[in-house]
Amino acid sequence: MTRTVYVNGAFVPEDEAKISVFDRGFLFSDGVYEVSTVVHGKLLDNPAHLARLRRSMSELNLPSPATDEEIVAAQKKLIEQNSLEEGAVYLQVSRGAADRDFAFPANPKPSLVMFTQPKNLLHAPQVSEGIKIVSVPDIRWKRRDIKTVSLLAQSLAKQAALDAGANDAWMVEDGYVTEGSSNNAFIVDQNGTLITRQLGNEILPGITRASVLRLTEIESIKLEERAFTIAEACAAQEAFITSATTFVWPVVSIDGHTVGDGKPGPVAGKLRELYIETALARAD
Ligand code: PDD
Repeated sequence: MTRTVYVNGAFVPEDEAKISVFDRGFLFSDGVYEVSTVVHGKLLDNPAHLARLRRSMSELNLPSPATDEEIVAAQKKLIEQNSLEEGAVYLQVSRGAADRDFAFPANPKPSLVMFTQPKNLLHAPQVSEGIKIVSVPDIRWKRRDIKTVSLLAQSLAKQAALDAGANDAWMVEDGYVTEGSSNNAFIVDQNGTLITRQLGNEILPGITRASVLRLTEIESIKLEERAFTIAEACAAQEAFITSATTFVWPVVSIDGHTVGDGKPGPVAGKLRELYIETALARAD
């Protein structure tokens, strides 16, 4: 079945969708994106994703192609037209088409593209099996807080993990973990303290990370927002990742070292359960 996708105001079959070869997203990675998840046909944490999209656009001086209301209306129409029950809506804003020049065009006409992807979110096998991580050097640029479509370093990191027989990579800079290839990284130390890197230009401010951190208060879990090393992660009781498309997935092995008893841990399990429950309760 062909999907209906959204391109600059039009809903079209995916094989009829067109973007210019001069689009700056294509030529310069001059674009930003968001991935909002859908469960039971509803968008999870979407207002927070749209707020981060606004921030990404503003940091790059990218003109907005649509209002939040217009974007939400298009997301919902795509969900409906593609009968999406569980999966994600991807959206991308680029500075649009202009003759190739490093300088920004004087009057940019930004493009907005959206499509749906079905995904198994609630009952993914990784939840009961856990995932294996390998560490790789973080070779990305220095504004990782902006969610740009420049994802080649993350793609290389993910592929290196798969080639090594693992499921994902944690990127390391100056001896400390920054984040996962497309997720935020957490550990629970031997005292039961949850540790995740503080926000800054070095990592993406994950929407799922923020929601999970709010839950630690309710659960009275001790929290430290600071950088940690791979050695600390290997010695932890538990480790896990968060992202829109995983929610919370437990990590059972890092660079071949077993984490804890090698099984998904209780803190990750509890936070996953609570995240899904609370995010669904406010889903729209
Ligand atoms: N990636 N860090 C990076 C580098 C990411 O690419 C992502 C998300 C996250 C988690 O952010 P959030 O909780 O808002 O999804 C952290 C998405 C899922 C992707 O690129 O597909």
